[in-house]
Amino acid sequence: MAPQFLSFIDHYKYFSLVDSGHVPAFICDDDPPIIFDPGVSAFGPLYYKKLAPVVKGKTRPLMMLLTHSHFDHCGAAPYLLRKFPDARVGASIRAAEVLQKQSAIDLIQRFNAEYEKEMARELAGEDTSFSGIVVDVPLKEGDRVELSKDNCFQVFETPGHTRDCLSYFFTGSGTLIAGEAAGVPEGDFIHSVFLASYEDYINSIEKLHTLKAAALCIAHVGILTGKRQIADYLETSLKAAQDYRAKIECYLEKFNGDKEKVVSAIVAEEYDAKPHHIVNRNPFIMNLQAKINAVCNLKKLLK
Ligand SMILES: [Fe+2]
Repeated sequence: MAPQFLSFIDHYKYFSLVDSGHVPAFICDDDPPIIFDPGVSAFGPLYYKKLAPVVKGKTRPLMMLLTHSHFDHCGAAPYLLRKFPDARVGASIRAAEVLQKQSAIDLIQRFNAEYEKEMARELAGEDTSFSGIVVDVPLKEGDRVELSKDNCFQVFETPGHTRDCLSYFFTGSGTLIAGEAAGVPEGDFIHSVFLASYEDYINSIEKLHTLKAAALCIAHVGILTGKRQIADYLETSLKAAQDYRAKIECYLEKFNGDKEKVVSAIVAEEYDAKPHHIVNRNPFIMNLQAKINAVCNLKKLLK
């Protein structure tokens, strides 16, 4: 369960949330202006509308910082690059490699196309399609990027959700952009998203805990402020991951290790039984399969 008193806001110092259903991006209104995780391609025009007045009048070009290479974190980047051709894209070295692979590009295109189809009426023929991304600024653990006299960010590798996850910590304001590295709260539940590695995911949450951030920007949700509230959130997220691992292990035992049966049971319970979701069904199933594999891999390591 997520702490009941979690209180999300959509603006903190230079940082603000671009509300677009469950796929928000965050914007940092500084020079250079930054957009974090411009997600699903169909929301490109919405991000552009919010971003255009922020970019106007700045002396330095837009930066797009990606926390990882999932379709709903980079899908609108090509659209925005068509609008802001001098923008620069920063992401992990691994994400830069992933985003060059044709198989990854095809998958990102396919998942984004689902949203484009659903939003065809709003898009009114505008081309927002995903067309691949070249990462201009490859980043890694320990990098420190000076943006201006009193604004810089540190880069932390926070794998577990994916292998290519980065978190960005803005030391001036104490703002931490963590993508999905510390889970995704939905109502009173925290989605534990250890798709690549359970152990790495746990270690990443513990790493983020040590930063004692004043504000935490969580993908798909909003901005959490206050060191105590953030610490409580991270501790609860850690516990949620341990509980979710136990749940998967319990189902694996019940179905004698049959992963497909585990997927069906959890999809029925967590997806089909609920009216609203933060992701479409296909990505939900794919993520669940990855989590089950992560738990199975852990069990193999422990043998
Ligand atoms: Fe993700």
